Amino acid sequence: MNFKALFSRSERLNSLRLRISPGAVTLARRAARLITTYERQAWRLFLVFQVGIVLTGGAVRLTKSGLGCPEWPDCVNGSLGPQPSQIEGVHSWIEFGNRLLTILLVLNVAYVVIAARINKRHGKLAWFQLRGLIAQIVLGGITVWTHLNPFTVAGHYLLSSILIAGIVRALHQMDEEYVAVNVKREVFTLGRVVVGITALVLIVGTFVTGSGPHAGDDKAPRYPLDAARLALFHADIVIALVVLTISLWLMLRVTKRPTPKAYLYFVGAIVLQGVIGYTQYFTGLPEVLVAIHLLGSALVWTAANFLYYSFEKESNETI
Ligand code: HEM
Repeated sequence: MNFKALFSRSERLNSLRLRISPGAVTLARRAARLITTYERQAWRLFLVFQVGIVLTGGAVRLTKSGLGCPEWPDCVNGSLGPQPSQIEGVHSWIEFGNRLLTILLVLNVAYVVIAARINKRHGKLAWFQLRGLIAQIVLGGITVWTHLNPFTVAGHYLLSSILIAGIVRALHQMDEEYVAVNVKREVFTLGRVVVGITALVLIVGTFVTGSGPHAGDDKAPRYPLDAARLALFHADIVIALVVLTISLWLMLRVTKRPTPKAYLYFVGAIVLQGVIGYTQYFTGLPEVLVAIHLLGSALVWTAANFLYYSFEKESNETI
């Protein structure tokens, strides 16, 4: 850059500095400090919202309100919100209510992105959440346009799970006092396998739902699969998961390593979820139990992600 250009640039910067009053600078600094102070709480709240939206999305499906707003982004006929004349009646309000909840997530994600910019930390994770949320909004639209195709409904759920994994990663990075348990390579690998099998349980679970009776609308397409047999296959993978989880505990005992807290939460969550799973299966899938099972799946997945970060390979070991 030549001298003249450099000079005019510094002139411009100076004039800009002059235009910003000291009061505004102090205010901006205070706001920045306030935003960064509550960064961790904002990520925690974000986790609650993401788990919550899985549940409210399920409530839309279980009340057959999936097409309560038959259009997207409008609810109906050029109107962003429901119209009293709509034949969908109360279902339109249920679906619209779920759409409105997205606003909370947008505000929350904006907060963590701003905090990440100010702190110059966790930027990638915050932007990942923003992109994921945009994808989630678009996928919501595609779900309506495809009349609740089970593939897109499952994609919607699984994308939420990916975003939950990202939030747990951010929370883990923020926890400066956190100490992972040092374990042997085999234990470390088994921990990873347990998390991987949990992901498989979720994926197969979406196929059970996609073939089952709770489609979200009577006219919604279904997978041409036997839902009852698929549910048992889903449960068989859960049994394998339980066996592996117990093996993980035994390996921790044998190698004289402490059991991380996340492991206990994970065990509690899968046991409860398994009981709910079998109960709903044998009682003809009542909506309330299916909703609890859906919430349970998000909690199991959250616990699995915390478990993921609980172990560290012993440093004297090489792969
Ligand atoms: C760790 C334990 C379990 C997890 C994490 C889990 C997770 C899931 C997930 C993610 C779904 C799909 C939800 C959706 O797409 O809306 C699902 C559906 C289902 N699960 Fe499980 N599940 C577990 C255990 C079980 C067990 C033991 C059974 C017993 C048969 C079971 C029966 C079902 C049934 C019947 C559905 C379909 C419900 C519907 O029609 O919407 N689950 N599960």
